[in-house]
Amino acid sequence: MADENNPNGGNGGGGSNGSSTGKNGKVGLVERVTTGVKEDIHALKTDIPAKAKEQIEGLKDPTKTQVYTSIFRHKHDDTPRNRALGVLSNVFLHLHPAKINRDAVRYSYTWGMGGITFYLFIILTYTGVLLMFYYHPSKVQAFRDVLYLEHDVPFGKILRNMHRWAAHLMVIGVWLHMFRVFLTGSYKKPREFNWNIGVLLLVFTLLLSFTGYLLPDDQLGFWAVTVGTNMARATPLLGHEGPFGSMLGMTPYNDVRFGLLGGSIVDANALLRSYIWHCIGIPIVASVLMIVHFWRVRKDGGISGPAPVMLEAEADKPRRGPKAAGE
Ligand code: HEM
Repeated sequence: MADENNPNGGNGGGGSNGSSTGKNGKVGLVERVTTGVKEDIHALKTDIPAKAKEQIEGLKDPTKTQVYTSIFRHKHDDTPRNRALGVLSNVFLHLHPAKINRDAVRYSYTWGMGGITFYLFIILTYTGVLLMFYYHPSKVQAFRDVLYLEHDVPFGKILRNMHRWAAHLMVIGVWLHMFRVFLTGSYKKPREFNWNIGVLLLVFTLLLSFTGYLLPDDQLGFWAVTVGTNMARATPLLGHEGPFGSMLGMTPYNDVRFGLLGGSIVDANALLRSYIWHCIGIPIVASVLMIVHFWRVRKDGGISGPAPVMLEAEADKPRRGPKAAGE
């Protein structure tokens, strides 16, 4: 392509008449450099004062700086829109709804039981992980580890008992929460699906307790699990003593009880299986279900309740619209 600054065209200094073209090329280059430098100086003259002005403005009002607006992306005027944006555009606050039903914040409506159950689950996870540092799921070690925790590990007794008590309270909490949901009729449309997720959560909460029962490997746990898993013998189709079980070829060595215990008696394999279900399998499933459960509460229009979303001051005002006019 021809160079606009080079009247001879071509590649500047290249070609047979190299010397004259080369001279013109150098002139063109010098001109271009000078113009460039002039432009830069001009830009500096105008840009620097503009930047300085911007920075001084920023010192006067930090909310106008680029740094501030890159973090806070909405205004702070006290309008309903900005209040909603304040919640929605914050990574922590957005977990809460921007607007809620008045009943949702009335403690006597929910007793906070769902929240308390979740809080207990967090405590159980935390104390459970700490207990894992001291516990081995083997017939030789398990009971000794529990004794060691009770008598020798610093704060071991309180750690173990925090885990035990939180487990008892979680079972009580989940029942009370379900009772409240039932009393307020919150299982009805559109919350049927979430009620079912809740039923699964109840089952998994009970299974967490049951699998934890065996872990100390004491007499109480051993016999509780013996009785519990003996019931599995009578499972329809899958238990060797259950309806249709024998017709399907179930024996004590291949039925559902065998699968739960990892053998035909409560022994080392049962302990290991309980441990893995208790510490990994069930907590993961329960956590996923809780995520779905909380998401559904939001999607179903927040916590149920008779009150519409409005301020108390607004609730006293006479209603407008066709219904108020008696149509
Ligand atoms: C691990 C167990 C559970 C946890 C952590 C949990 C947690 C929660 C939380 C935090 C809420 C918000 C309202 C509140 O605090 O009361 C809620 C609502 C709800 N839960 Fe649960 N829940 C559990 C088990 C259950 C069970 C067993 C059921 C019923 C079978 C259930 C059914 C519901 C329903 C239907 C709602 C919506 C209630 C409404 O809109 O008023 N949940 N749950």
